[in-house]
Amino acid sequence: MELKNHFANELHQHLREHMTKKDIEQLIEIPKKPELGDLAFPCFTLAKILKKPPAKIAEEITFQISNNYFSKVVAVGPYINVFAKRKPFTSKVIHEILNKNLSYGDDKIGHNKTIIVEFSSPNIAKPFSMGHLRSTVIGNALGKLAQKLGYKTVKINHLGDWGTQFGKLITAYLLWGNEEEVKENPIEELFKLYTKFHHESETYPCLNEEGRKWFKKLEDGDIKALGLWKWFKNESLKKFKKIYSLLGIQFDSWAGESFYTDKMEDVIQELKDKGLLQTSDHAEVVFLEDYNLPPCLVKKSDGATLYATRDLATAIYRKNTYNFTKALYIVGHEQSVHFQQIKAVLNEMGHEWAQEIHHIPFGLYLQEGKKMSTRKGRVILLEDVIEEVIQLAEENISEKNPELQNKTEVAKMVGVGAVIFHDLKNFRMNNIEFSLKDMLTFEGDTGPYVQYTHARACSILRKAPIHDTNKFTLENLNIDDYSWEIVKQLYVFPEKIKQAFDRFDPSIIAKYLLTLAQHFNKFYGQVKILEKNEGLVFRLALVKAVTIVLKEGLNLLGIQAPEEM
Ligand code: ARG
Repeated sequence: MELKNHFANELHQHLREHMTKKDIEQLIEIPKKPELGDLAFPCFTLAKILKKPPAKIAEEITFQISNNYFSKVVAVGPYINVFAKRKPFTSKVIHEILNKNLSYGDDKIGHNKTIIVEFSSPNIAKPFSMGHLRSTVIGNALGKLAQKLGYKTVKINHLGDWGTQFGKLITAYLLWGNEEEVKENPIEELFKLYTKFHHESETYPCLNEEGRKWFKKLEDGDIKALGLWKWFKNESLKKFKKIYSLLGIQFDSWAGESFYTDKMEDVIQELKDKGLLQTSDHAEVVFLEDYNLPPCLVKKSDGATLYATRDLATAIYRKNTYNFTKALYIVGHEQSVHFQQIKAVLNEMGHEWAQEIHHIPFGLYLQEGKKMSTRKGRVILLEDVIEEVIQLAEENISEKNPELQNKTEVAKMVGVGAVIFHDLKNFRMNNIEFSLKDMLTFEGDTGPYVQYTHARACSILRKAPIHDTNKFTLENLNIDDYSWEIVKQLYVFPEKIKQAFDRFDPSIIAKYLLTLAQHFNKFYGQVKILEKNEGLVFRLALVKAVTIVLKEGLNLLGIQAPEEM
């Protein structure tokens, strides 16, 4: 932040002997109450170094700060507080946003670098779970943040479409399945068959043996096994694609677990050549005691491969194909040990890039405090949930704005936006109480609130007598406190984008948008924006800048911003 930089420079001139500029920068804060100043420097650390009371130091230094960038410098107890010169700062920020439009905040840090974002990755023949919804929206946002910073991204849906469970499913289908029923309701029926298999195998353990056999046949390319598997997969994909289309999400690659069936032998060979593979209980494993991790199982006694084998092949394939700088895996925290094992094995193999693999875990969705589960027969179909939210959004809109032209389209943007924002406003490791009512209110910490604020700003601009807001002047103008708070927020947007990406935490953007929207709504409530006086063009420019940043911020989260709602 530039202002911070000026402040740190000024302080550093006087504190050179005691502190580095970086130390100073890290200590600078934003006062809780804006009337106390725009930035503050606490003198406690210096007090220890200089062995003087902090308030005394604050007073002494205050006198030495020049007025190049600051209109006022005051000592407030142990703090040195500064007030920025509002005009030059405001003019610069607003002009920059109006010039750059939606590319405000774009960066080049990622130039010529590729980031893999693997997300969503549901399992075929099963309902799309709430956990997969979380992975989907978090991953999509991280991909957009990476692109904003100039990275090339490869968005991969690593479908769960291989493994012993498909041997079990084939067994169940051959025993109890009905083609017509599966065609009618593929996911529900297949899931029922799978559940039945588990249930029955408790009484008839030999079923498991049968399941293993069918998976082995699948791995060996048996035509009947492959035919059924392909059918299950196609039906599942049709359903999944409907969800992605509702959410407005696209992938660059759908290479899931089955894509790696012919790429695992090489990995196993490499592990053997490097002397890492050992036999334990007739299975082939890599021991990871040095990492304090359980052994990584690579091949079962019957020769079948495992989830981990596929992930090893996946990582190596991705490195060779995309030469990524970083690979992000957005997967629930219950798989943390699995990813630690994968990284450890790759590391043992001498692949240093293993440290650029980042497992990005997240918490659960809860309903009345309990895990929202798709298991145990109670199937919640995500598609239905989203349709319901859109329906509710349409009812809300019809009530608020019965005249609106493209109601259905807007309802879709608002409903989907509500679901996504409800997720992303929380730090991803937190659990989230899934509440349709909470996510849809137009007032409060919601997507619709931010969208509504954007639409409100757009409507002001439509009513404005002037549309060219680029040439505003601040001469003879006082920048009121409401505008000033907005300007400061607009200014930190680029910094927030970097932070959100560095910490893999889209909630930074969601919270930022809420704050910006709140400041804007205060301004809207207190200032006569459209009043015809000398400040009009500036106020319109400010409103325009707000629409740009709200729209782009929502876009980074994967949410659309209707101009009317
Ligand atoms: N399909 C898995 C599941 O639903 C998630 C896949 C995670 N990605 C990976 N490379 N293992 O649990």
